[in-house]
Amino acid sequence: MHQGPQNVAVILPAAGSGRRFGGEENKLFARLAGLPIWMHSANRLRAHHRVARIVMPVAAQDRPRFENEYGESVQKLKIEIVDGGAERTDSVLSGLCQIGDDASIELIAIHDAARPLIRSADLDAVFAKADQTGAAILATPVTATVKQSFDAGASCRTIDRSTLWLAQTPQVFRVPVLKSAYARHRGRAATDDAELVQRAGINVAMVSGSADNLKITHPNDLIVAEAIIKSQSEFQDA
Ligand code: CTP
Ligand code: MG
Repeated sequence: MHQGPQNVAVILPAAGSGRRFGGEENKLFARLAGLPIWMHSANRLRAHHRVARIVMPVAAQDRPRFENEYGESVQKLKIEIVDGGAERTDSVLSGLCQIGDDASIELIAIHDAARPLIRSADLDAVFAKADQTGAAILATPVTATVKQSFDAGASCRTIDRSTLWLAQTPQVFRVPVLKSAYARHRGRAATDDAELVQRAGINVAMVSGSADNLKITHPNDLIVAEAIIKSQSEFQDA
């Protein structure tokens, strides 16, 4: 599983505003174990032997920071910065345009810059599945008891969780699969890229990933992420 040519292009959407995280600046600049969140994500993807290119859509107001304050790292990591858009799908589309018709690329992996804890073994697994099927995402089975609420919580019932999974990133697609899904996309809201691909009639396989591949959404997530990073470096399993 550690074989494979260097033929993966990564789109690392970083153009959000971090509204739920709060604060003055994009949450991706918040420090996690001494580095900004986005840099952990970029480092881990750049360290994977199959990753050829990393394209990072950023918001217009953040571009000077990425190019100046972090310009050296951006260059060292060979990150191609492009303009993001109002919706995440707009940012991904901008990344897709930047990749263009690059014949050396077989797979495109879309990974939230806000998921700094991605493990290399999970990258191996989801890349391998996408090689086989054309479309694969990391996800984890739901472990909690899931309730459907009625009348704003006045009553509820249990939902069978045996078929329920939580989607993560990376979401990985063969180039024509992702291109055709985005060509069909007419602005209808989609919560992730897998939904667009599946709407285009293509099956998306799920690969069971580590539950600790969390997305930093609220400030408390950073506390959990610090603890996970610490345990990953203790076990050298990052
Ligand atoms: N993202 C993006 N372009 C957008 C919106 C989001 O590139 N128009 C990116 C974010 O920067 C993040 C990833 O998509 O890395 C996942 O989005 P999310 O966690 O929702 O981040 P934000 O949209 O920034 O946060 P919020 O929804 O709380 O505002
Ligand atoms: Mg968002």
